[in-house]
Amino acid sequence: MNHEKALVEEAKKKAALAAVKHVKDSFIVGLGSGSTAAYAIEALGERVKHEKLRLLAVPTSYQAFLLAVKHGIAITTLDEHPEIDVTIDGADQIDAELNLIKGMGAALAREKIVASASKLNIIIADESKKVRVLGENNHPVPVEVLPFAINPVKRKIEALGGKAILREGKGKLGPVITDNGNAIIDAVFGLIGKAAELELKLKMIPGVIETGLFVNFADIAYIGTSSTVEKIERIRHQ
Ligand code: 5RP
Repeated sequence: MNHEKALVEEAKKKAALAAVKHVKDSFIVGLGSGSTAAYAIEALGERVKHEKLRLLAVPTSYQAFLLAVKHGIAITTLDEHPEIDVTIDGADQIDAELNLIKGMGAALAREKIVASASKLNIIIADESKKVRVLGENNHPVPVEVLPFAINPVKRKIEALGGKAILREGKGKLGPVITDNGNAIIDAVFGLIGKAAELELKLKMIPGVIETGLFVNFADIAYIGTSSTVEKIERIRHQ
């Protein structure tokens, strides 16, 4: 691993370690997806092992499920535990109000469901994820779509001013298929001034299952650098 990459991994780990401190004995924990969330799952596994924490976890993806099993964290479901004490998850972009773009790992639908069932949502990331405005650098909004509706949804996203690209798999020919059996359209809108408005418009398109815009979900973000961790708390507007 080159030096720069090692520093980024260190930053992700630091953010993850800060977040897992919020977890207490007997908690129901939402496990996020992605490389940063993976560090949190590993650190939670360590706490289960050394502090004998009795946790039950709801994974947001097959990746998170396998990591939980690997690190000795017991699994539960939203059917058994519809209320989660704390969820720790990563993000692709984070603005100053803690609005997010998520879903580059294609787990956005379950991530949003788990976040909406959580009393506390903690986001962990390295500092490259912080942006002034969501959509910076033409970052796409991932949109999970019923396969039957791919083309009509693409056309409707384009009518909203976005560029719609069907996400292709790596290591397999053809489109990415999510854990829910759906496709992902990456929708590029440029700078997203009104994320809540865009989110509503996208959700109104028949065939759209979920979008990667997470508005007013995150409560706390831990942003790691190679030497420190910044804590940002969401200001709640009345
Ligand atoms: C998956 C996600 C991830 O949390 C997001 O892509 C961040 O991943 P990473 O920590 O690997 O950068 O939303 O759907």
